[in-house]
Formats: sequence, structure tokens, C-alpha cells
Amino acid sequence: MSLISQLDEAVEAVHGKSTTSPVIGVVLGSGLGAWAETLQDRTVIPYAEIPSMPVSTIVGHPGNLWLGYAGGVPVACLQGRSHLYEGHTPDRAVFGVRMLARLGCRAVLLTNAAGGTHPAWTPGDLMLITDHLNLTGRNPLVGPNEAEIGPRFPDMTHAYDRRIAALAREAAMDTGVALREGIYAGLLGPSYETPAEIAMLRGLGADAVGMSTVFEVIALRHMGVRCGGISCITNLAAGLGGAPLSHAEVEETARMSRDRFSALLSAWVKRVGAAISGSPSWRGGAA
Ligand code: HPA
Repeated sequence: MSLISQLDEAVEAVHGKSTTSPVIGVVLGSGLGAWAETLQDRTVIPYAEIPSMPVSTIVGHPGNLWLGYAGGVPVACLQGRSHLYEGHTPDRAVFGVRMLARLGCRAVLLTNAAGGTHPAWTPGDLMLITDHLNLTGRNPLVGPNEAEIGPRFPDMTHAYDRRIAALAREAAMDTGVALREGIYAGLLGPSYETPAEIAMLRGLGADAVGMSTVFEVIALRHMGVRCGGISCITNLAAGLGGAPLSHAEVEETARMSRDRFSALLSAWVKRVGAAISGSPSWRGGAA
């Protein structure tokens, strides 16, 4: 079955369970999934009930699509994502965000847990992603291109939309939440990095390092959807903090950041929603 038919089948299944027409998609990273439960008039659809949707296997990634309203803005929210290290192929791993685009989302806000590469940063810091380094050696667009979905060679100059980033800075001011900024390096995982790799990544310009997000942004830009990203810096990257890294620590720090993260995300969604409803130029390309 073509990808477009798979997406249409998934969208039809979602429409059978919810009448919400989302304009913003949100992807919730490790330990950050609770935000979905703040939506009003919400419907939850387990990924297992959506045809072609890969099911995530990681603790902290429950695997539900939520539809509902945040500050009056209709949103679709992926609670749990698929990673390459689970064995998903890159094109399968991005099926969820492609579905968000096909459901009508004009912008997708991606969140993740990441290691920080700056010794002076503190676990719990939040970082606006201004650009990324895809260091996985893979790309979800490898294989035949379906022109109906997007171009063979999509531009990535403004992978992280400048207007959405500006709205994140405003949301940070609205809520009094401190927001760092930097470049996110996406690696394959699932092992964490060595201290030598972290030293190399710093040299390459990475401020944060994680195992997600970059494929989703590539797939969304392919479809002409604008993207924004925020990392929760759950730990200092390998070699900077001294102690060994663990997924439990990542989840715990993300959970402790939950209130600041939720306040910021809610304010961001509200501002992006207002920008979308106020501007016809949101239909179409990127800034
Ligand atoms: N490295 C890679 N992925 C991560 C990290 C890290 O230090 N922390 C959370 N996700």
C-alpha cells in the first residue's frame, strides 16, 4: 500500500473516534507525556487502534494519540514516539508525525529529553532547538519518493521555523520560564555517548544530544509543515557530570521539570494557535 493510502486509512480511523480538527501537533518526549492529560474535551486513541501506526516499547512512552483543546486551540498530541533503536525503520518511525500533518496540523511542536553538552547547564533546563545535526547516518526519506507527499529533495534551511521559535521566546516571557537555545544532535542510540563522543559533538556545535526528533523534523519539512522544538536537558552529557547516565535519571528529571515544561508548552501552543488563525500565510511553505 502506498504511504498516502496508509496515511488516509489512519486518518479515517482517527476521524471515526474524534471530530476535533487539529491545527497544531505536539510530540511529547520521555517523561513529558503528562501534558496530554491537561487537554480539554479530550479523546485518547491507543496507537494499536490506528492502522500502520508503530507501537512504542519504551517505558515512559505509553503510545497514545490525544485530540483535544489547549487554551481553545485544537491539537493532536503524540504521547510516546517510535525510535530507530527499537528496530523501527526510519520511514516507519515518522508515521505518527506524518499522520499529524495529514490530520491538518499546520505546525508541529516537538519535545524531547536530551543530554546537555555544557558543563554550566543544569539538569531541568529547557532549550529551544534552533537547528539540528542529524548524526544517525540515516534518513526517513530514503527510498522511492511519493510526490503527492513532498519533493524528492526538501530544503532544510529553516528546519526549525523562525516564527515558531520567536513565539516560544514570547511564551517563555509570558510564563517566566527560563529558556536556553541551541543545536540538537540526533544520534541513533540506544547506548549513551562516550565522553570522547561528547567532546566531538561539542566541537561540531551541538548543545544537546538525544535519540529522536531529527527524523520527525525531516519528514515534516518534506510535507511543508513548520516545526518547533524544545529539549528538556535531563542530564549533563557523558563525562561532564561524572556519574553514569541512566534512563531512570532522564525520566525523573523530566518529571521534575513537568510544571515549568507544561506551562511553557501551553503558552507556546496558545501563541502558535493565534498566529495560525490570524495569518493565511500559514497555509503553505515556511518562513
Ligand atoms: N544522550 C542521548 N540521549 C539522551 C541523553 C543523553 O545524554 N539524555 C536524554 N536522552
